[in-house]
Amino acid sequence: MILFRVLPVIWAVTAKADFFQFDSISNVSTYYFNYIYCNIWEGECQPNQDDATQQVPSGDFWSVFPQDYMRTLTEWYCSLGQCCDTGDCRITNNITGLARDLELKLHGQHLAQSVVLKAVQGFLSNPEPNKPLTLSFHGWSGTGKNFVARLVADNLYRDGVKSECVRLFIAPFHFPHAKLVDVYKGQLKEAIRDTVLRCQQALFIFDEAEKLHPGLIDAVKPYMDHYDNVDGVSYRRAIFLFLSNIGGTAINDVTLDFWHSGQNREDIGMEDLEHRLRSEAVESQGGFAQSELMSGHLIDFFVPFLPLEYRHVKLCARDAYAARGLHPSEAILDEVAKAMLYVPKEEKLFSAQGCKSIPQRVNFFLP
Ligand SMILES: *[C@@H]1O[C@H](CO)[C@@H](O)[C@H](O)[C@H]1NC(C)=O
Ligand SMILES: *[C@@H]1O[C@H](CO)[C@@H](O)[C@H](O)[C@H]1NC(C)=O
Repeated sequence: MILFRVLPVIWAVTAKADFFQFDSISNVSTYYFNYIYCNIWEGECQPNQDDATQQVPSGDFWSVFPQDYMRTLTEWYCSLGQCCDTGDCRITNNITGLARDLELKLHGQHLAQSVVLKAVQGFLSNPEPNKPLTLSFHGWSGTGKNFVARLVADNLYRDGVKSECVRLFIAPFHFPHAKLVDVYKGQLKEAIRDTVLRCQQALFIFDEAEKLHPGLIDAVKPYMDHYDNVDGVSYRRAIFLFLSNIGGTAINDVTLDFWHSGQNREDIGMEDLEHRLRSEAVESQGGFAQSELMSGHLIDFFVPFLPLEYRHVKLCARDAYAARGLHPSEAILDEVAKAMLYVPKEEKLFSAQGCKSIPQRVNFFLP
């Protein structure tokens, strides 16, 4: 059978592609990418940087395989007893797990919790979606956007963000130079196409999307639209997540208004935010904010992340200790939370950094 001959070629090409992955990224960016990957995404950091870049063989290689062929490859894995309920062992689609994680591990984000779960659950239960799922996460840094993207990856894919079905793009690190935008466009299109050819239910995460060059957004737009296919490949089972700070100020203002008027933040509804989020996006600068993605119909759900309060920071600290098997007193948790900076100046209500760096900070307050 021909597949036996094809497989060694695949491994060889994968190894070769590793070598070329970073040729357009400066050494400094590579370093920061790894730093960010380890610290913010809390991936298991390996000395070998290739592990952090989720390699995809070069486009020429995969494009010679029709999609049927890839299916045959999957079936071949199955015949070796590597088969799974989803038909693809790389994909776990654990909605129960996602619901549980969003409920127990995410703090202070009732809207994100329900919107993300409903959106993902609805999308995965539809056998014939008419377009890819596109979610746009908005909010200050440290409010949980990366964390939720990670929970989605962890529950939908066996290998989480390291899965070959998942690609993470951090705008300023993968696409740092405006003058290279045409090169990046080609690379990005190729990466999206290659990933979907390998794994129909692919997940693409664009972090710091507010820094994406407009040309790059135009390049990815067709993949998110209602087309049956683009150049013979169907993208309709893919998931796109855009993470940005666009609209963060509007979200914070609404949350502060609720607090001033004595209302619960849990009573903030999408209707309180969506209008202001859109209008702030229209006013703000940058490719993503100004793009048709934001104004048009391509984003399925806007997901607001509210600024976090003292009590939420304490919960993050509790989780960070628990991850190390420690269960400190309330007093210790208070110490960690007190060490954060709170804004605005007068109310001192919201943690300026959200829960960012809490896992690192708890080192200084060991019980
Ligand atoms: C980047 O890395 C290459 C290969 O490791 C090295 O030769 C080169 O000097 C580095 N450039 C800078 C600016 O550090
Ligand atoms: C789904 O996630 C839950 C909670 O994390 C876990 O207990 C369960 O084993 C997972 N199911 C599968 C099929 O992985």
